[in-house]
Amino acid sequence: MEFQLNEDQQMLRDMVRQFVEKEAKPTVAERDEQAIWPGALVKQMGELGLLGVAVSEEYGGAGLDYISYAIVIEELSRVDASLGVIASVNNSLVCYGIEKYGSEEQKRELLTSLAAGRTLGAFSLSEPGAGSDAAAQRTTAVRDGDSYVINGVKNWVTNGDHADTIILMTMTDPSKGVKGITAFLVDTREPGCRVVKVENKLGIRSAHSSQMAYDDFRVPASRRLGEEGQGFKIAMTILNAGRIGIAAQALGIAQGAYEEALAYTKVREQFGKPIHEFQAVGFTLADMATRIKAARLLTYDAAWRKDQHLDYVKDAAMAKVFASETAMWTATKAVQLHGSNGYSKEYPVERYFRDAKITEIYEGTSEIQRLVISREITRD
Ligand code: CAA
Repeated sequence: MEFQLNEDQQMLRDMVRQFVEKEAKPTVAERDEQAIWPGALVKQMGELGLLGVAVSEEYGGAGLDYISYAIVIEELSRVDASLGVIASVNNSLVCYGIEKYGSEEQKRELLTSLAAGRTLGAFSLSEPGAGSDAAAQRTTAVRDGDSYVINGVKNWVTNGDHADTIILMTMTDPSKGVKGITAFLVDTREPGCRVVKVENKLGIRSAHSSQMAYDDFRVPASRRLGEEGQGFKIAMTILNAGRIGIAAQALGIAQGAYEEALAYTKVREQFGKPIHEFQAVGFTLADMATRIKAARLLTYDAAWRKDQHLDYVKDAAMAKVFASETAMWTATKAVQLHGSNGYSKEYPVERYFRDAKITEIYEGTSEIQRLVISREITRD
């Protein structure tokens, strides 16, 4: 059993760290404040191979393992959690889904450009009435000759307003429930697909989440992902991998908040000494470091299991729930250790605090992760 990164993984970590420190950090506060989409940074991430980390080189990816993918998302999120989720959605919700379920033609036509960052992807499952109950899909797709006609409204589509390709879940046969759900690869430039609104959010404000509508939107049958009725299984399988990405995002947020708290408590003096010398502060830092280490081990372990082709449903859910709750706890404590300064936009901890919250919600709430884990451990 190995507990250290190999040389390539360490080099990758250093490369991503350098990139975000130099290119993203100077603008992260302003982009957050004004909810500015980081178009130039997304382009750079594509050029650096960060948008198709685990996609095979044959299809335009970097051909690395899932631990490397987790490292990339963690490092991006340590500085900018918005970049973390933009990359995570493209990597694990879109590229992974197409590589696993797409036809050869779909891979050649869509995956090669998505993995190389020439185009951007989004994943669209949630609807106003289908959040945790993902099977309650109301968006319909009706077969008409060689195509399907899609009608419905989707929300919380991360990357939606900038995406070229969307993996879209629809209902093709409502009488079959979850077995009536079908996935499509949608080209957003085609008529009938529109952005209704971009949400005004608490955190990850530079990553856009949109409500999108489909009005008599026509998609060729050749752009169906998998078989009719296979959509729910595809969505769940994609989300298993996505949850490793969100665990890594949460880990990066926790690490960033912890580093800020550590640095601050060393320079901030009260009662004649740096505040980290007070036991209450020192113990809080100790708990942060311990929880972050545990979250990292869980996240890398889930990624390792995926790399080894072992079952990782439970492990990804464990990593996601633990890392996201670690991020929220660590960021809350980091604000507390900053006192009033932590409540000010002059210091980055308030942003980590706002960014952390979503990791407990999207790609399956903490409650859904516990449901998944409890089902897995009580099976048979
Ligand atoms: N992996 C693989 N297959 C799975 C699965 C998983 N994690 N969970 C369920 N399935 C399969 C089941 O095996 C079953 O298939 P079979 O009948 O062939 O065995 C089928 O799916 C139906 O399963 P359930 O009966 O368990 O379905 P359910 O209706 O009870 O729902 C649920 C299960 C776990 C609650 C699921 O609805 C869920 O995960 N909900 C959360 C949804 C979610 O994560 N949304 C995130 C939105 S995307 C997002 O946030 C993206 C973004 O932009 C950042």
